Amino acid sequence: MDIKSLYKKYSLNIYNRYGPVFVKGSGSWLEDSKGRRYLDLFPGWGVSILGHCHRRLVKVINEQASKLIHLPNNLFSCQQALLAKKISQLSFSSKVFFANSGAEAVEAAIKFSRLWRPGCNQIIVMKNSFHGRTMGALSATGQKKYKKYFRPLISGFKQVKFNDFDHFKNKITSKTSAVILELIQGEGGVNVANKDYVERIAKFCQANKILLIIDEVQTGMGRTGKMFCYQHYSLKPDILILSKGLGAGVPISAIVVKKRIADIIKPGMHASTFGGSPFVTRVAREVFDIIKEENILNNVEKQQKFLKKSLLKLKERFSIIKKVRGMGLMQAIECNRPTAPVFKAALKKKLIINSTHENVVRIMPALNVKKTELNQGIVILTDIFKSLEKRQKNNYKQYG
Ligand SMILES: Cc1ncc(COP(=O)(O)O)c(C=O)c1O
Repeated sequence: MDIKSLYKKYSLNIYNRYGPVFVKGSGSWLEDSKGRRYLDLFPGWGVSILGHCHRRLVKVINEQASKLIHLPNNLFSCQQALLAKKISQLSFSSKVFFANSGAEAVEAAIKFSRLWRPGCNQIIVMKNSFHGRTMGALSATGQKKYKKYFRPLISGFKQVKFNDFDHFKNKITSKTSAVILELIQGEGGVNVANKDYVERIAKFCQANKILLIIDEVQTGMGRTGKMFCYQHYSLKPDILILSKGLGAGVPISAIVVKKRIADIIKPGMHASTFGGSPFVTRVAREVFDIIKEENILNNVEKQQKFLKKSLLKLKERFSIIKKVRGMGLMQAIECNRPTAPVFKAALKKKLIINSTHENVVRIMPALNVKKTELNQGIVILTDIFKSLEKRQKNNYKQYG
């Protein structure tokens, strides 16, 4: 039986899957079972920030796997402690709890916020946000399409308009304990939070003892040109959530908690069997070292300029494109029509990008992507938009 038939027979039909069967990866390239190479400008849905199978990561994975893979959390592991120290030093004075996925980290943050001001259970969340698929994270998510089959959800979440400080302020009550915010809404279509808006929220939260929980599952780990996206703004989160790029392919998430909140969390209140194993924490520490030693943030800065310029040129050329937006190597092209056909056409031309939020093409390459690779992607996208526009004109002619 071939692989696609095995999927059909034995895997739950919960994802739409496209393209060939991939067997290998290196840098920004994937190889399929027939030896054909694909340019991957969306590696691992934002996870594989160092590209596929980075040489140093593979080495550390092998070394750590042969030393110690897993340890229960009632024993001490030097790897977990060293990673917690690194994250705290690179962010703010904090203590760290490790989990395995973005949603799990969001769950932990929701639970910790319940401890902050007992009896105050209201959490402000944003319209269009995405925080994951578990019940708490789903309840915090501001998009109906993810929630519609799964009611009743968890109560206590109040949705407000994104980038509208007055709306946020008007929804605050004496029961508000926290706000959960993505600085760039990734699944919501790559919507960047305005500087003034975010800083006003941060100030307001501080003045009113409301926890500011920043979900950087997608924007963290250098994606936007700084190690953490919040560092573009003048604020410090109370709780910072990291995942995706943190392990660059191994499953890990971190909930980074400011010391004064950390002090109220006691043994037994939360746990994770797999969270923070020696294996994943060693790998994540290597990710930080590679980012530093290979000047990855400089590369993000350099390549984002080229990518943005190229996308803006596409916008000038094709009327299908309404807007180009994003920060660092998290960029989007909003179109005036659904973009699933753009994703499919790109895949046929051996380019992997993403279509999200109906009409948005999302590009989130590896942070060590080369200019030549981005340029190759732009050439393919140009071809696709050219033929889409031609088809659109022909349709008009046919009916007009
Ligand atoms: C901002 C944000 N938070 C949380 C999640 C959920 O992460 P996971 O799929 O690892 O549970 C995602 C996933 O895309 C995300 O983008």
